[in-house]
Amino acid sequence: MDTERFLTPQQLASWQDDGFLVVPDAFSADACEALRARALDMVDGFAAGVNSTVFDTTDQQHGSDEYFLTSGDKIRFFVEEGARNGAGELVGSGDEVINKIGHAMHDLDGTFSDFSRAEPIARSARQIGFHDPRLLQSMYIFKSPRIGGEVSWHTDHTFLWTEPQSVVGFWVAIDDATVENGCMWAIPGGHRQPVRQRFRRSDAGTVMDVLDPTELDTSEAVPLEAPRGTLILLNGSLPHASPPNTSAKPRHAFTLHVIEGSALYPDDNWLRRSSEMPLRGFSD
Ligand code: FE2
Repeated sequence: MDTERFLTPQQLASWQDDGFLVVPDAFSADACEALRARALDMVDGFAAGVNSTVFDTTDQQHGSDEYFLTSGDKIRFFVEEGARNGAGELVGSGDEVINKIGHAMHDLDGTFSDFSRAEPIARSARQIGFHDPRLLQSMYIFKSPRIGGEVSWHTDHTFLWTEPQSVVGFWVAIDDATVENGCMWAIPGGHRQPVRQRFRRSDAGTVMDVLDPTELDTSEAVPLEAPRGTLILLNGSLPHASPPNTSAKPRHAFTLHVIEGSALYPDDNWLRRSSEMPLRGFSD
């Protein structure tokens, strides 16, 4: 595959105009199924562990905040709301209650590392202008039938702040994502609007700073339907969202967030890594 030809000039122009780009057939069905199988294996192990552990419900909120805030360099499991009973046990099987796995599988698991560093992502990152791409965050999102929750309108820069803004999301459909099962929606050209919020660490835990109180106009939003294997690139300043999955079909997806190595990464970003696990690129 020639680097210069992975994304066409027309695709690069539409990336610039829209702030997103939908690239069909970037990953094979086999590659998608291998990632799904690995994710389901991980969730099986997690569910077995949870249900054999006594869970302290009095400290549940604090515990879950800490679990999230220390997950930047780990493989951790986040369940849907209402997934635990009073004893802390899961109310369904792992794949029925899981929301996502995050946030460092790309460095800690061979299958996820290979998928994250595959040519469609690495080459498109170069083509859209990364000089020193650093792989910051990976997530495997389940959006399971009937219980997969909504992701409200946001920009990724809000959560993964760099100066200057550099984060790009690389999203891969592991199942066909349609309007019916809660595909992503985005506002074409919305990346040219100022980012309205910043989520960061604070003395109290975390805080959402309001940088611009203007309400987001979502009237021009379009659905980004994506057959399995489709890669979607998202500018970090682009508002996007996805509704709940009320259908009977799963909507698994993988996301990798990449930042520019030369950009400032503030200490108060929520996602932190231990000094023993520095960010890596696509080939180092
Ligand atoms: Fe996002």
